[in-house]
Amino acid sequence: MRLAAKDLLSIHDLSVEEFRLILDLADQMKANPGRFSRSLERKTLAMIFEKPSLRTRVTFEAGMTQLGGHAIYLAPSDISLGARESIPDVARNLERMVEIIMARTFRHESVVQLARCSRIPVINALSDYSHPCQALADFLTLREVHGDLRKVKLCYVGDGNNVCHSLLFAAAKCGAAMTVACPRGYEPLKEVVELAQRDAQETSASLRIVHSPEQGVSGANAVYTDVWASMGQEAETEARAKIFRPFQVNESLMAKAGKGACFLHCLPAHRGWEVTDSVADSPASVIFQQAENRLHAQKSVLHLLAGKEELS
Ligand code: CP
Ligand code: NVA
Repeated sequence: MRLAAKDLLSIHDLSVEEFRLILDLADQMKANPGRFSRSLERKTLAMIFEKPSLRTRVTFEAGMTQLGGHAIYLAPSDISLGARESIPDVARNLERMVEIIMARTFRHESVVQLARCSRIPVINALSDYSHPCQALADFLTLREVHGDLRKVKLCYVGDGNNVCHSLLFAAAKCGAAMTVACPRGYEPLKEVVELAQRDAQETSASLRIVHSPEQGVSGANAVYTDVWASMGQEAETEARAKIFRPFQVNESLMAKAGKGACFLHCLPAHRGWEVTDSVADSPASVIFQQAENRLHAQKSVLHLLAGKEELS
């Protein structure tokens, strides 16, 4: 079992069947981790980070260990991607030393260029455009909670950012219903919505954008939010706080969602800003289940891109 593409750059690039395969294998790995303990034996993952991370670094590194391989953390100051050395040169070095690359970059074009210039698989571990590994873990979580992804009615409340983009692509691949509730001017990119709408025709997913958080969460069985200012947008933090304040996910907004709706957040959470403690720490919150599922979803991706065939 392999994915058709060499790399995982965007969920949009996966077929509907590949999207399901990644989640199914992640379920198997979660239930029976020992079975895959030699899948990436003697293989090395280079992890390029231009931005900070807790979950991504730890889950990729622990995931490689659990698959019998090894990971090398390359901090922003180690490589200075594109400054100390060009991206093509970084790619042409690493492909001779390791079997797989993971990259968290500012510009999406940087991770695309790494993939284009190397003969080994490259995984997008967050760019300004998308965060595919996060959405895979999130839909794994939603399937655990709701059983069937076609029953999911997800409302993403907040900024139409990288996380929102990948959730839209993922909802389209599995036939879920997704509403984005965002302030005017902070919608997801038109190009992303158009691509996701095209994918949605295959699965009968329904995608829509509204500008009222109350309207957005009405009838939702899952409510998701993310930070108002993403990494790289720190200078906009105060201005955004004013604009996004009405989009805070608090008990009053959760009460307007469907009965028993769960709460999701990719983390890190800015508690008291986009989400209150009362929601993040409520029984409805599955935020740490999502964080754990990063490990299982990424192990599945690593195996499908570079693991030993016979274990499949
Ligand atoms: N959700 C997520 O990607 O977390 P980190 O930024 O800590 O890796
Ligand atoms: N949108 C956030 C996600 C962090 C995991 C960011 O890009 O900073």
